[in-house]
Amino acid sequence: MLRLGVLVSGNGSNLQAIIDNIENGYIPNTQIAVVISNNPDAYALIRAKDAGINTEIIHRKMFKKRTEFEHHLVETLQDYGVDLVLLAGFMVILGKEIIRAFPNRIMNIHPALVPAFSGKGFYGRKVHESVLEYGVKLTGATVHFVTEDVDGGPVILQEAIPVFDDDTIETLQKRVLEIVEWQIYSKAVKLYAEHRIEIDGRKVRIRK
Ligand code: GRF
Repeated sequence: MLRLGVLVSGNGSNLQAIIDNIENGYIPNTQIAVVISNNPDAYALIRAKDAGINTEIIHRKMFKKRTEFEHHLVETLQDYGVDLVLLAGFMVILGKEIIRAFPNRIMNIHPALVPAFSGKGFYGRKVHESVLEYGVKLTGATVHFVTEDVDGGPVILQEAIPVFDDDTIETLQKRVLEIVEWQIYSKAVKLYAEHRIEIDGRKVRIRK
């Protein structure tokens, strides 16, 4: 059984898609061991509780130093026997300790086609605003492994959708989320659970 630890800060719609896809059997042999939020008011915590999943709040302000916050995060994930960590709208950039504790075992979803519109400072609405300002015709989302290079780890899955002339930040954000993110994050976890993800340096290959 693959044990997931999902880190959240906000609404948790990607978390919800994963909960639903475990329940309906699309993602096999997997359970969410814990949902951890750095924000006590995150709606994602309510989604987790409604699904009967353990939750923990680990707030940066509970600790003097950033390294202590991160150490506690790692210990909690280990206490729950987590195999794979999913960042699902977690608004904290991870440091060395956690990345080294879970090498190629942390996934993130980014709401653009990496390496475009990604890296430090590209989060939330800012990503879609930049896409619209630049005038690209395609955008989408990327699931990747997390390394110390922000949004720069090996790419697992990407999917593109068109940008329309009359798109606003809100319409684009909604389409990327609902049409792409909810599907590809679950697909990446399914492939992982089926042991079909092979990592070769920067490259990820999907076994048939
Ligand atoms: C998503 O757009 C995700 O790509 C980004 O943060 C957002 C989280 O949305 N990393 P939700 O909390 O899953 O609804």
